[in-house]
Amino acid sequence: MENVISYLKDNLESSLNELKDYISIPSISTLESYNNEMTRCAEFAAAKLKDAGMTRVEIFPTSGHPVVYGEWLGKPGKPTVLIYGHYDVQPVDPLELWKNPPFEPVIDSERIWGRGSDDNKGQHFVHIKSVEAFFKTVGEPPVNVKFILEGEEEIGSTNLPAFIKDYQELLKCDAVLISDTSLYAKGIPTITYGLRGLLYMEVEVTAANRDLHSGSFGGAVANPINELAKIISKLHDKNGKVTIPNFYKNVVALSKLERDNFKRLKLSDKEYAKEVGVKELQGEKGFTTLERLWARPTLDCNGIVGGFIEEGAKTVLPSKALAKISMRLVPNQDPEKLAKEFTKYIKALTPKSVKVDVRTLHYGNAAMVPLGSKALTAGANAVAKAYGKKTVFTREGGSIPIVVDFTKLLKAPVVLMGLGLDSDDIHSPNEHFLLENFEKGQYASAYFLDELSKI
Ligand code: BES
Ligand code: MN
Repeated sequence: MENVISYLKDNLESSLNELKDYISIPSISTLESYNNEMTRCAEFAAAKLKDAGMTRVEIFPTSGHPVVYGEWLGKPGKPTVLIYGHYDVQPVDPLELWKNPPFEPVIDSERIWGRGSDDNKGQHFVHIKSVEAFFKTVGEPPVNVKFILEGEEEIGSTNLPAFIKDYQELLKCDAVLISDTSLYAKGIPTITYGLRGLLYMEVEVTAANRDLHSGSFGGAVANPINELAKIISKLHDKNGKVTIPNFYKNVVALSKLERDNFKRLKLSDKEYAKEVGVKELQGEKGFTTLERLWARPTLDCNGIVGGFIEEGAKTVLPSKALAKISMRLVPNQDPEKLAKEFTKYIKALTPKSVKVDVRTLHYGNAAMVPLGSKALTAGANAVAKAYGKKTVFTREGGSIPIVVDFTKLLKAPVVLMGLGLDSDDIHSPNEHFLLENFEKGQYASAYFLDELSKI
């Protein structure tokens, strides 16, 4: 292993430069105008898998963005690891808040900056490099390796479940390795065992058949923005609970053991509030911050549009208003059922003076990975070795929709080996990735393959 680790160390600079090229491709999956960049990015990733030593590399078209696949199966009799990542990124708005352009990555003494630097190009590139290091030093990796890199994670992995179903044989493996989560804190090796799910809805309220003069018509005709705001304000009660009927119906209560484990992580509300720049935290009554973030469902308005949004003033009674509303879900909540409940409830809250249209954009299930698997222990040992500390086990508030499908369809344990930090500003301007995590992540990845080969 020494050879492998020193190879990774010696090649850190060139790896970083390759990552820079990867980040330079604006692979925004949700904006159709970027479809060519998505293809270009898939081709780039495929080339990197080839360079890393994969003997079969293929780009599979889907009805959305392509799936990139790579494999090296030179170790019959040894376990096979399937490494998952996503090459798509989130949109970059508001652009004016970026210190450097999002797709012109910059490296300083501690970080690499750019959209996708953490989520998820930086995080999965680590594994490509660690696999490469085995070929370049000891001749070959100690286990069989498969890669699957998708281009639709940030839009709910719409086409990936069907792909996994169709290619179950191709994707067959003994463990799935994913780095798309966070360390509990800087320098703390972390394995995540739970993720929240997501249900993303759009609510469009229409009043008059066109924009109207707010003096001539205001007071007599409903204002869709006012009505939408009223609807949104009714989605939580005074205790911070979501009011949608049956929303909490199947939510699993936290066990005493898990609550205690969360407490042992000693999150400081004060520091947390300070870090995000608020005076006080807010959430569902009766739960601690970590419980609210990791084990309780939530509802948030992610965007709202309507009426006059330019500079200055315009007196107008808008015809339409639109809200994008998403819910983070926890295990046992059924996104499809909740989409129906949500739609019914929004309709019930809407007055006759306006029309409402409720649409489902996408959804994904919450995931829990069993703590007992050998693969998970291998993951925990690997990160502990790389960071020189004891591994902590966390749940997280974000979502990786495909985790559940991997578990169900491939029946393989999923190891969530997060290398990001919650402070990396993913989905936000100035996303960055710690060079320390880029480096130690590569070691952790190499140790993991080594540990896995001993199972
Ligand atoms: N890497 C994140 C998920 C994540 C973030 C997990 C932080 C744990 C901590 C992933 O790329 C992501 O952003 N997923 C989306 C999925 C959604 C669009 C279905 C999310 O959570 O919003
Ligand atoms: Mn993301």
